[in-house]
Amino acid sequence: MAKKKVEGYLSAKESRRISRENRKITNEFEKKRKRKNVPESEYTTTMKNPENVVEIDNLHTYFFTDAGTVKSVNGVSFEVPIGKTVGVVGESGCGKSVTSLSIMQLVQRPQGQCVDGEIRLNLGDGKAYNIVNTPNEKMQGIRGNYVSMIFQEPMTSLNPVFRIGDQVDEVIALHNPDMSKEDVKARTIEMLELVGIANSEGVYKMFPHELSGGMRQRIVIAMGLACNPKLIIADEPTTALDVTIQAQILDLLRDLKDKINSSIMLITHDLGVIAEMADYVVVMYAGRVVEKGTANEIFKDPRHPYTIGLMNSKPVVGKQVDRLYSIPGKVPNPIDMPNYCYFKDRCEMCVAGCEGAYPEMVKVSDTHYVSCYRHYEDAVKEEK
Ligand SMILES: Nc1ncnc2c1ncn2[C@@H]1O[C@H](COP(=O)(O)OP(=O)(O)OP(=O)(O)O)[C@@H](O)[C@H]1O
Ligand SMILES: [Mg+2]
Repeated sequence: MAKKKVEGYLSAKESRRISRENRKITNEFEKKRKRKNVPESEYTTTMKNPENVVEIDNLHTYFFTDAGTVKSVNGVSFEVPIGKTVGVVGESGCGKSVTSLSIMQLVQRPQGQCVDGEIRLNLGDGKAYNIVNTPNEKMQGIRGNYVSMIFQEPMTSLNPVFRIGDQVDEVIALHNPDMSKEDVKARTIEMLELVGIANSEGVYKMFPHELSGGMRQRIVIAMGLACNPKLIIADEPTTALDVTIQAQILDLLRDLKDKINSSIMLITHDLGVIAEMADYVVVMYAGRVVEKGTANEIFKDPRHPYTIGLMNSKPVVGKQVDRLYSIPGKVPNPIDMPNYCYFKDRCEMCVAGCEGAYPEMVKVSDTHYVSCYRHYEDAVKEEK
């Protein structure tokens, strides 16, 4: 019996108990969420720095599953400055998509809930909303107009049974209710041309399956950008594409960002893409931010052993190696996180303090922060 427990086996009784408890917790959250006429004061807030478009502050997003609570995002803090691109990197399953879904309030409810923290969204004119508490009817005006998301997989974000034109029209019409049908169509054609679709009138009448992967990705980008959002969240926008199309899509995103003066939160596995696009980089590991800084700092002077490992595992042209470096071990089980540094069991640079509690963020420079015991002493010296 004891052995089964070690392997993560749950008895039916145990599982029932967990789901009962989960229901209790999620019902509480849902009750709060379903209230009508929530006063605006509950979700208005002020930005710490008005130069930021979004500030994520100590965000915790959990999934209450029958196997236990998955702490997908467990105290994430970073900000996106206006007009800049912030790259978010990290291993598969570290919580990148859940962080971005939290910003859009699209986490799968009721089991997925933002249990703590703030997401402050700058609406301009000194106004800001805390997305975590914003009611759904207000969110509908925010998604698309202020924040829009380009999803990981274009085929699943387009509806296969509707023509491209109808799908883009719908987005534009929904956000601009007083536009006439002809104006909406004209705007759709303009957007299709903007994203580099040559035969825009023809594509307007096509179904998603009649397009290539790169074209579909462009359509999704056109839909995302149709309402000139202040923040574009691009979740692996180029992972499914070949490198030439990837370069085109990235150029396109950058051009559009400058044209509509917005900011980009770019999620990717690809460090090359980050190097090319990002002004700032946030490195995530197992639901937490382990290091953040300007792109230059992260690439030239990585401090966290995970970031160092990540940099060493990318191939460099002209450098001969027998075997490309890979970080040993695997990410801890998100249901049962250790109470010490999550990276310790895979770390090749451990120091004496690593047995202690999860390390706090320490400052390396004004823009560069790292959460690692190896830098505690340096930070203390600097403060003195
Ligand atoms: N609906 C859900 N129910 C339960 N757990 C979930 C759900 N969605 C995500 N998770 C868990 O949250 C964790 C983070 O997932 P997320 O999708 O954010 O990873 P990611 O960093 O985007 O990975 P990738 O790079 O592969 O896209 C994972 O452990 C995943 O199992
Ligand atoms: Mg993802």
